Amino acid sequence: MYEQISHSLLNEILDKLNPDVKKKDLRHFYTRLGANFYAIHSLMHQLYGHRDDFKKQVLQLVETLARGYLQRSEKFKKIDMIREKNYTWFLSQHWVGMALYSDGFAGNLQGLRSKIAYFEELGINLLHVMPILRCPEGASDGGYAVSNFREVDPNIGTLDDLQALSSTLQSRNILLVLDVVMNHSSNEHEWARRARAGEEAYQDYYYVFENREAPDRFEEGMPEVFPETAPGNFTWDEEMGKWVMTVFKNYQWDLNYRNPAVFIEMLDIILFWANQGADIVRLDAVAFLWKKIGTACQNEREAHLILQLMKDCCQVTAPGVLFIAEAIVAPVEVTKYFGEDAVIAKECEIAYNATYMALLWDAVATKNTQLLKQGIRNLPAKLDGATWLNYLRCHDDIGLGFDDGDILLAGYDPKKHRRFLVDYFTGAHGDSSARGMQFGHNNKTGDARISGSLASLVGLEAALEQGDAAAIEKTVQLILLLHSMILSFGGMPLLYYGDEIGTTNFYGYRKDACKANDNRWLHRPTIDWEKAARRNQHGTVEQRIFDALKKMISVRKGIPAFADYNNRELIDVENPHLFVFLRTRRQQSSGTVMVVGNFDASAQSLDLSTLRNRRHAQAGRMKDLYSGEFLSLPEAQLPLAPYQFLWLSEH
Ligand code: GLC
Repeated sequence: MYEQISHSLLNEILDKLNPDVKKKDLRHFYTRLGANFYAIHSLMHQLYGHRDDFKKQVLQLVETLARGYLQRSEKFKKIDMIREKNYTWFLSQHWVGMALYSDGFAGNLQGLRSKIAYFEELGINLLHVMPILRCPEGASDGGYAVSNFREVDPNIGTLDDLQALSSTLQSRNILLVLDVVMNHSSNEHEWARRARAGEEAYQDYYYVFENREAPDRFEEGMPEVFPETAPGNFTWDEEMGKWVMTVFKNYQWDLNYRNPAVFIEMLDIILFWANQGADIVRLDAVAFLWKKIGTACQNEREAHLILQLMKDCCQVTAPGVLFIAEAIVAPVEVTKYFGEDAVIAKECEIAYNATYMALLWDAVATKNTQLLKQGIRNLPAKLDGATWLNYLRCHDDIGLGFDDGDILLAGYDPKKHRRFLVDYFTGAHGDSSARGMQFGHNNKTGDARISGSLASLVGLEAALEQGDAAAIEKTVQLILLLHSMILSFGGMPLLYYGDEIGTTNFYGYRKDACKANDNRWLHRPTIDWEKAARRNQHGTVEQRIFDALKKMISVRKGIPAFADYNNRELIDVENPHLFVFLRTRRQQSSGTVMVVGNFDASAQSLDLSTLRNRRHAQAGRMKDLYSGEFLSLPEAQLPLAPYQFLWLSEH
């Protein structure tokens, strides 16, 4: 591909642009289009260059970008310019997020808006409001089976409510994250209805087949996402008389990105939500965007090209808006969603750190950090201009996607170890007071994942039931230790609603026929505001967790070494219960912080004399930034209480 080709095509397109678009002041738009067009053209060409209507598709794409720009408010255009200048703004330690369902949190979007003071009290300044769009009742997959990508679910509000929420958040300096489910739509979406009614143009929006020939070949390589409730990857549609690809639930039809019309529709939808005030868009299930017979249909090269194209297009119209990749895949694959061979992210600026999440849970169950250390050592390096979303719990299950090689190196048998973890978190293991449930058990492979709220998984539910004060105290410490790890690791910490007050499992979901067969509802709570009010009552579990997190968040924001500039160094220590890493300050030798976590239920000590970084090892010269206490250590042993964490600076 020569530059000249893209230049002349761009000129041709600009000539052909609709007159009502051409008339407008598009100065910044044209600058960005010019700068990005070579990449856009070349990606479009790689994906769709073989089509006769290629030029028409590119024109359509550019028109979509221009219209998105014209609809973008001046307020957001200004924010775009500010973020373009300060393009590493999101790497700062200042950001701390929370993910929530608006109905579970506060009934609806208006209720959520009335609770903003709660986030401010805790220090949350990034809000991931999970799917808000219309889905069929009962076949919604928790909001991820969208039947209209532009209409707010009437049960939680209107577009006006969302706009009001977005502008209030903006005036209070809180970022808004919204989902765009780009891999599939509900079978009730208009595109699916029209496909079902026989319109070929819409059948081409999905992977639709006359008979089992192609589906059978696809199935050979494809794993199952929900083996218990939605086995297989294809569903027979009686009305259409055809098979349709449904990787997730049978009512979630996979969109066909081999069709450029699908890409352009989804781009238009992303720009629509950017223009409603989303600062960040969470792109759901991105690993699945491209399907190819003979492969697992995950992490395909073209899925990355689609994301690169989406990013380049978004840079033209709404450059201040970031993408989060929800790619719950192997560590070696996940970093590719930042975009390879670049300093600045070329796909998504942010990605879920599912590896760290699962490794932390491993350390909880084993009470040692062998696998955690091994897994983090092997986590591939990340681009400078990209960051992790570090989390402990979310609305999904916990997958045990560790690398088998790492499990072996940590000294375990992979199959047995995974079984141990499932037994541990479901409470089947003798030593465990966890109250999780097994999710997604696959009879063929033996794989299983875990559901359950953070508080119930660490044993708080059982401890409260037994009225065991010592056990309650330990589980509270463990909850704090885990949060201290995501708040200091590097990246954006994302708390999960309810965890800040120790919300335990919600068993009521079993009474709802639409939810009963999906135990992820166990940990999608409705906030009990009376319980939340107990955060103001000294000595309650709610107060102990909430106040400690509030303090941790505020301390984090004041530690420049906690910004994410790939400035973390894992420290090898002999004690197998401890996890120790250094966070250094960008281009400065001072201001280093050593993070130490004791994952054991009994007291441990860290032998400072063996540490490589001697500066931190000088007894008597350390301060724990969290408690504010100076540590005076007559010997080179740093004592740690059960589940204690320390954020140590040199003093
Ligand atoms: C994502 C969502 C999950 C959903 C799936 C299918 O992984 O987080 O909740 O079931 O996509 O949409």
